[in-house]
Amino acid sequence: MESKPVSRLEMSLHWTIAAGIVGLIGLGLFMSETRSFSLYDIHKSIGLLLFMIIAVRVVVRLNKGWPESISDGPAWEHVVARFVHWALILGTVIMPLSGLLDALMSGQGLSIFALELVAGNPGENGRPQALNEGLAEMAEEVHHYTGYALIAAIVLHVAGALKHHLVDGDNTLRRMVGRS
Ligand code: HEM
Ligand code: HEM
Repeated sequence: MESKPVSRLEMSLHWTIAAGIVGLIGLGLFMSETRSFSLYDIHKSIGLLLFMIIAVRVVVRLNKGWPESISDGPAWEHVVARFVHWALILGTVIMPLSGLLDALMSGQGLSIFALELVAGNPGENGRPQALNEGLAEMAEEVHHYTGYALIAAIVLHVAGALKHHLVDGDNTLRRMVGRS
């Protein structure tokens, strides 16, 4: 089947963000589970850097629309794929935004590695003091539950990509790696 080109920029954005998101989910779950506080700054710094790349992707999508489907599958498959693409894009925006809000409202401040963007709010004991505890807690919950929703969307998405490649034998996956 004839396949429409996906630009180099779209491919680079897709694979950079895919790797970044999977890595940050792994790191986020690991550091929260093991209370490894030394990893928090690394998670937040990479998350903020990735957010800039995610913003470029959102602008590209808004300008260019979605890549046209090249599969002959039933209509419901196209609907599910489009729904999952929306969930993935929204998830990649909500995760850094909620993380950022959590960090700011809990008084931790914001840095990208050594570069301080917003100073923390130390209390009398030197530990970060919340600016707005309610908002910080809400943002943390959003970060937590959106993280799990994103994992579900990624599993569906990867299963779909593999089905196109292995079962349908179409060019959907090849097009995304520039080999169609
Ligand atoms: C860009 C994509 C991001 C992804 C996919 C991501 C993913 C995650 C995940 C899965 C967790 C574990 C949640 C839990 O078990 O409750 C987590 C924790 C956390 N993330 Fe992110 N994160 C991202 C960006 C950020 C950013 C930009 C910040 C802050 C600037 C941030 C701050 C945090 C904090 C503070 C925690 C610990 C929450 C807690 O357990 O108290 N994250 N992240
Ligand atoms: C190994 C993992 C992955 C594979 C094999 C994969 C494969 C693909 C393929 C083949 C397409 C093109 C679909 C089409 O032509 O209709 C696509 C598009 C897309 N993928 Fe993935 N993907 C992976 C991981 C991810 C992750 C982790 C995310 C986001 C968190 C993501 C988000 C998207 C989005 C939003 C699209 C729509 C087009 C775009 O905006 O670039 N993918 N993916």
